[in-house]
Amino acid sequence: MMHSADGDESAPSTPAFVIDRHLLDVLVSRFREALDAHWPGAILSYSFKTNSLPWLIGHMRRQGVWAEVVSDAEYELALALGYAPERIVFNGPIKSQERLRSALREGSLVNLDSRREVTWAAELAREEPTLSLAVGVRVNWDLEAHCPGESTTGDEGSRFGFSVDTGALDRVIEELTDSGVRLAGLHMHRNSLTQSLGVYRAAATVAADLIATRSLDLDWVDIGGGFFGNLEGSPSFDDYVRVIREVLDPVVDPTRTRLVVEPGGSVIAVPVELHAAVLDVKDVGERRHVVTNASRTDIDPLFRRRRPFAVTTDSTSEQRLPEQIIGGFTCMEDDRLTRLQDAPELAVGDRLRFEAVGAYTMSYQSSFIEFLPAVYVRDGERYTLVRRAWGVEDYLQGNRWDDVDDPSGAGAPGADLTGAQRRP
Ligand SMILES: Cc1ncc(COP(=O)(O)O)c(C=O)c1O
Repeated sequence: MMHSADGDESAPSTPAFVIDRHLLDVLVSRFREALDAHWPGAILSYSFKTNSLPWLIGHMRRQGVWAEVVSDAEYELALALGYAPERIVFNGPIKSQERLRSALREGSLVNLDSRREVTWAAELAREEPTLSLAVGVRVNWDLEAHCPGESTTGDEGSRFGFSVDTGALDRVIEELTDSGVRLAGLHMHRNSLTQSLGVYRAAATVAADLIATRSLDLDWVDIGGGFFGNLEGSPSFDDYVRVIREVLDPVVDPTRTRLVVEPGGSVIAVPVELHAAVLDVKDVGERRHVVTNASRTDIDPLFRRRRPFAVTTDSTSEQRLPEQIIGGFTCMEDDRLTRLQDAPELAVGDRLRFEAVGAYTMSYQSSFIEFLPAVYVRDGERYTLVRRAWGVEDYLQGNRWDDVDDPSGAGAPGADLTGAQRRP
């Protein structure tokens, strides 16, 4: 296939991820419209971890979406791709002291999640009182008690944030206040099994209760991500934001306190497809096995998925088969992507499309047996390459493969040693 700067009309080579740009933009606009309707001034940020493809992150920035990051590496990626520090939401328990200090100085919206971060923020405030530091804190709250059976953790509870129930949250608020750090936000994110409205009603209820009982005057309430996102079906983005606003309305002034949302899967799962091709077809006993050039490592990297994939094929066969087992390119027996039931018989060269595979897939990609597949953006009929398939040269970047005892330390021809040397 030929690639030009403006894209190409033909379908891409396989295997490849394909992002439907229109669908992506529809989902992002729907989220923004929901916020504009119920909480003008709210911050729409995108959860990098869900899919940190550089094109996608750049596209989100161009749409005015903020970055939501949970590591120094993701923070640095946001800076590298043009996000201003003041449009970065910095979350998670593993921030380094150096990056936390720079984020606070440069005006990122920071939610503290671990003990050491509280100590570091307090130290910075004492060292430099003129900075007028303001931070949010991640709240550890009992979702299971509010919505039995809906949390992903059951009775064991979440490992993130500071517990309301044990008093840890109050102690953190006191420590911050005593050292001159203003408590400016609450971070309420919880994943759920259900993505129900009840989960967000519960998160907002806990936040509202904290605001009322601790007399908090906040710059933001960050409700997190975890929303359901589809073109049809419910809840809709509008339903979520309406419920959150209803619950918080009695205790916050929405013109003063901003709502922060951090969607990931709800905006990027549906717009992405994986295109694959059939390499071989064979019968083993009663079973029809179809070998493809994709793998379950591409679209179910944790091998956890129970729901079947939505798959379409371009097979023109008149013959339908009761079952075809679609296998991947790896040597793992369980690299079986799906089973097609009562579908047209597949032949070598046929194309398969696995739909709605944009979340927690590309960001987990492995270099097991093959390197990363290409990624295209589809705009109507036009496909544009935004990541070429990785080759050996990409894999070798940052490595050395000469003798480590070589006194010249010159590395191997073509090797970029900067990355490798930075690591202890
Ligand atoms: C703090 C935080 N925000 C946002 C998200 C994005 O969640 P989702 O992809 O379910 O929208 C996650 C995912 O776990 C998260 O941990």
